[in-house]
Amino acid sequence: MNVLVVGNGGREHALAWKLKQSSRVDRVFVAPGNAGTQEDAENVAIDPADFASLVKFCRQNQVELTVVGPEAPLSLGIVDAFRTEKLRIFGPSKSAAQLEASKVFCKNLLRQADVPTADYQVFRSADSAKRFIADRYPSDTEDVPVVVKADGLAAGKGVIVCSKRAQAMQAIDRLSGNEFGTAGAQIVIEERLDGDEASVIAITDGQTIVTLSPAQDHKPAYDGDQGPNTGGMGAYCPTKLVDDKVMSFIQEQVLVPTVHALKRGRHPFTGVLYAGLIMTNQGPKVLEYNVRFGDPECQPLLMRLKTDLMDIIEATVDGRLDEIGSLEWDPRPSVCVVMASEGYPGSYEKGHVIRGLREAAAMPDVKVFHAGTKRDSDGRIVTAGGRVLGVTAMGDSISAAKLQAYKAVRCIRWDGAWCRKDISDKALTY
Ligand code: AMP
Ligand code: GLY
Repeated sequence: MNVLVVGNGGREHALAWKLKQSSRVDRVFVAPGNAGTQEDAENVAIDPADFASLVKFCRQNQVELTVVGPEAPLSLGIVDAFRTEKLRIFGPSKSAAQLEASKVFCKNLLRQADVPTADYQVFRSADSAKRFIADRYPSDTEDVPVVVKADGLAAGKGVIVCSKRAQAMQAIDRLSGNEFGTAGAQIVIEERLDGDEASVIAITDGQTIVTLSPAQDHKPAYDGDQGPNTGGMGAYCPTKLVDDKVMSFIQEQVLVPTVHALKRGRHPFTGVLYAGLIMTNQGPKVLEYNVRFGDPECQPLLMRLKTDLMDIIEATVDGRLDEIGSLEWDPRPSVCVVMASEGYPGSYEKGHVIRGLREAAAMPDVKVFHAGTKRDSDGRIVTAGGRVLGVTAMGDSISAAKLQAYKAVRCIRWDGAWCRKDISDKALTY
């Protein structure tokens, strides 16, 4: 059968690469894709927000199933648009995608379902939010342990972790200002929690929930978790932070009540449910939900997945995920190191020629997933985004996988290329 993957990042390259390995899949199209998906699949120049053109393409090319990578088309209703046209698609409806698109929706649902999460309050104006901070923290000098969040999608920039009153006030002004548009129309202020973070990604058809191997992302830009937040500078899996006992807790106290609450609220969920968790002294708590695979977590996860991804996705879309049973994994851990453009997560140049990709790809147990890349008019692969590549490797231990990933990183160069040097080091401390 033919499959369409929607999106153009490292996650979509990994999805296309894995789907292509299925014995039941003939052609994999990616809209719009990048230079990596052009090699492992076939790129189609259609914008992920142009549902009419995507539908037309699927009809003309006998696409039997569409897999959506990023949150934006999901929250715009791509799944509803395809279902109306009787086309099969993997992902949540627009109404269920609010779980990621609206922090207020997510927090209210978590509270209602009694899922452990940070205490919070919602404000409809900057003034009321600032009054709350002023009343609760009258002194300028004390620690102000709050996190200020814009309600809507803000490409990872809508969350400001605070420790001072002035900082919280500034965060409120910023998130409710013009920069964030309607995303900042409501502000969530929540209690600041302390602990290590893990990503538990599950797939559900609304009845059965299948959890994937737990992973850990590295969101801050620089080594030692310093610097501004990014989309993720690297990830590894599995992580010992989530052992079998913690995983059972997350299944029973987090995922099951969430899926039930969504169903009760008439937002039945199918697709990928990604819980961003923080391991506090009181146990795991949900920081956020995403309604799609994590990027970069998807890359090391899919490298280890042995079960046919097409089987899992089709079973989900057809509402028979219970038939899949437990998933099969390569026992070796995997590590993904993101190579980024100079200046990322701020502004950066594009169009630098990337060298050494072939040498890196020839290394054993290595896969270089492309994110912000494209082919220029001369056929050269050039940078086209902030996060450029996700260099992923497996090894007999996390340290061995890390070593192999960084060996591959050293083969690759372009003007201004950089990466964190400590991806997966935290794993050795758990
Ligand atoms: P979110 O998009 O809500 O996951 O937030 C992005 C990042 O902000 C998280 O990965 C955490 O590092 C941090 N963060 C969010 N909420 C909290 C919280 N309540 N306490 C501490 N850190 C938080
Ligand atoms: N890696 C974090 C995310 O995909 O949101």
